[in-house]
Amino acid sequence: MPVLTPQVHIPFPFSGMNVDNMQMTDLRLEPKPTPLALLLLGRDADPDSEKGVECPGALPQASDPDLVARATAAKARLGDRVFILGHHYQRNEVIEFADVTGDSFKLAQQAAAHPEAEYIVFCGVHFMAESADILTADTQAVVLPDMAAGCSMADMAAINQVEACWKTLKDAGIADVTVPITYMNSTAAIKAFTGRNGGAVCTSSNARRSLEWAFEQGEKVLFLPDQHLGRNTAVLDLGLSLEDCIVFNPMLPNGGVSVEELRAAKMILWRGHCSVHARFTAKAIADVRAQVPGVNVIVHPECAYEVVSNADVVGSTEVIIATIAAAKPGTAWAVGTELNLVKRLAQDNPDKQIVFLDHSVCFCATMNRIDLPHLVWALESLADGNLVNQITVDPDTAHWAKVALDRMLSLPGTSTVRD
Ligand code: 13P
Ligand code: SF4
Repeated sequence: MPVLTPQVHIPFPFSGMNVDNMQMTDLRLEPKPTPLALLLLGRDADPDSEKGVECPGALPQASDPDLVARATAAKARLGDRVFILGHHYQRNEVIEFADVTGDSFKLAQQAAAHPEAEYIVFCGVHFMAESADILTADTQAVVLPDMAAGCSMADMAAINQVEACWKTLKDAGIADVTVPITYMNSTAAIKAFTGRNGGAVCTSSNARRSLEWAFEQGEKVLFLPDQHLGRNTAVLDLGLSLEDCIVFNPMLPNGGVSVEELRAAKMILWRGHCSVHARFTAKAIADVRAQVPGVNVIVHPECAYEVVSNADVVGSTEVIIATIAAAKPGTAWAVGTELNLVKRLAQDNPDKQIVFLDHSVCFCATMNRIDLPHLVWALESLADGNLVNQITVDPDTAHWAKVALDRMLSLPGTSTVRD
């Protein structure tokens, strides 16, 4: 493995190292567990800027040496009454307590598959917890350990904007032949809009199958809210051209597109993106190929088209993990996804060289908000009989969102991987 230094603009070398013991790179990679910009979460938060962040009761100090023991004890007290889901982007300190880890699709399935659990504690972000609430029984409560764990991509599509877009499509005479497909990373209200209008949810695991299904139902797709996943799937999996895709910008009148453009397009892409995956560039791929001979580049489909089309393998977090686990020892992988997962890949694959496909730190800030103090606080509260941070979706929204989620869950062939 080449020794890479900070003077070189490089992906971070992980493999073969104990990342927790890294010296120089360690300082840049690993924010101290809680005290970052996110440090005051749950304490003394400004109610105007961080609504819902304050935790009732005492949030444990990040420095409490007994946090692991406290989480273990609270989980044991709850027993089968609690089931903990952990998304792959969660911190290690949280993942350790997950009963199951997975990508968005697997976690949605797992939430629905545990009716025995009174509490589903979702270590992920808000839209995932909403979907879990929709897919679980009314007798079950879904808990998000920190209410500030949102998603900037989901926030890029507000329901009033999407309703206004649909009216634009109606006025252009194309709503009847357009099928909405919404990425899991969206609010329950957007999923409900999708269900009401004959569409389905998709995840990065089944975007191809969802789009194929949509084009069996209609002539066009309105893809919300991630333009990149929509474009990548349409062009690289379904063989549409880039010209078949237009971007609808909700900040501009009529989306910034003409009626003629709307009528000509096959894919109408919402102008949303993931702020983490948007950081990866085609230049970073060229750089890593130059610096690590024979490296395989694997990226998440939320990356931009030019990144995905220059990668060797593209897939959801679950696909990325499985692909690297199955790779030959000695192979090198540059990974374009969230840094908590890349670090874990390096730990779990010491026989391979794992490098991070970005020049700078690239954690998902909102995923990182769920830390051990918040998990301990949530579990101890539940064990003490206090239901905290419950995520609920109103019945009408939940009904229609479930229609869209069920359409996804019933689609055959759910795995999307390109290589
Ligand atoms: P998956 O885990 O479904 O690949 O999604 C990635 C993501 O960005 C979740 O927020
Ligand atoms: Fe949202 Fe991107 Fe973070 Fe996923 S990684 S939660 S899409 S901001």
